[in-house]
Amino acid sequence: MLRLAIIILALGLSSAAQADVKNYMDQMLREIYILKPYIVSEAEYKDPKNSAEIDESLKRMVSLSESISHEGKIRSTGFGISSDVLTQQLKESELVFRVGNKGYSLWMLRSTLSVCMSCHTQLPSASTRFDFSKKEHKLTKPFDEAEFLFIVRNFEKAMPLYQQVIAEYPKNAVTPENLKKAIARELYYYVRVKRDMPGLIKALDKNLKNKQLPTSAKTRLSGLKKAAQDKKGEGYPEFKEDQQAELKSYAESQLKNELAGDFDFSASKELDYLKTSSVLYKYLNDFPQTPLKPEILYWLSFCERRYEPTAFYSLPELYLKQCVLEHPQSEIAPACLKEYQDLVTLAYTGSSGVNIPDDVKKELQSLKKMIKTMKPKK
Ligand code: HEC
Repeated sequence: MLRLAIIILALGLSSAAQADVKNYMDQMLREIYILKPYIVSEAEYKDPKNSAEIDESLKRMVSLSESISHEGKIRSTGFGISSDVLTQQLKESELVFRVGNKGYSLWMLRSTLSVCMSCHTQLPSASTRFDFSKKEHKLTKPFDEAEFLFIVRNFEKAMPLYQQVIAEYPKNAVTPENLKKAIARELYYYVRVKRDMPGLIKALDKNLKNKQLPTSAKTRLSGLKKAAQDKKGEGYPEFKEDQQAELKSYAESQLKNELAGDFDFSASKELDYLKTSSVLYKYLNDFPQTPLKPEILYWLSFCERRYEPTAFYSLPELYLKQCVLEHPQSEIAPACLKEYQDLVTLAYTGSSGVNIPDDVKKELQSLKKMIKTMKPKK
């Protein structure tokens, strides 16, 4: 009887926490509605007559984001990092707006929206029905409209727009960069959110009908299609809480080459990374207290676009840092630190050699010290 009561209590609590997250997200949605016309128009964003409305909305987003960061469920899963990044970016965007460099603030805010996407594409889920197109301020550019729909998780409406963007390239004057983004959004949606390889193949087939695409895009799309066909029958393994050994052996076999320092950038690998991270995020979300958490962070750092120089913020680095900060006594912590150090060194390597700023050096030192003072937990 007591056991039953505890189970009911536990269920009640977790769905209450979920309801809170949803409630915050609904409020975020409201802010995005308010900001949308300004986000797409630099002139409107900079116009002094809109200043008060924009700044108030940015402030509310900062405070919402702080509340979300404190949610237990968000803290303990793969969402924690993205949530902190969101708060940090929004704070900076608001501050810069107020101090006066509105162009920079807008650039920052736009990149911040990719943080929303990074959370929303971690777990399998259903599409929302939030729709901007019936409201005023409908955007004339399909790519922009698709991005807003994607941000609020209306994947079903966003996907046809991305396909249109790809189908009508280059006469729609979409930039090559946004063409790449449209393809990337398709991959994240079909492989992680919908877990639907046949759906991905269909989408890629449609994309490939456009003979005007640059050769590099065509090569990439057909490579992805072939890889998706090879994986069509594979399925996504699920692991129970007590199947830690199985999860570990799955991750280590998927990432065998990478763990040995050997990266290849094939289409097949790209899909594998998305699939493996999908399985890992789901496990961490289902069992946030798992002792495997530092290992999962370590593996995720290999799956998340590690060497993508255009990424605005680097999840791999943040995951590795979290592994050390939260679990300095774990067996994997020294490996996390080593990878982190390598990525940081690479980031600060230029034509004039390695130039690591003093703050970053200090941080590396303090992470090292944390590990040293902790006794390894066997
Ligand atoms: C830390 C991770 C995280 C970040 C960052 C994040 N979200 Fe969410 N969001 C979630 C989760 C988890 C859900 C699903 C909640 C549920 O329905 O259970 C969600 C759901 C939503 C929904 C759908 C809500 C509903 O009622 O179905 C909207 C809209 C949304 N988020 C907007 C945003 C916007 C806008 C941003 C960026 C400013 C953002 N989110 C950033 C985690 C995040």
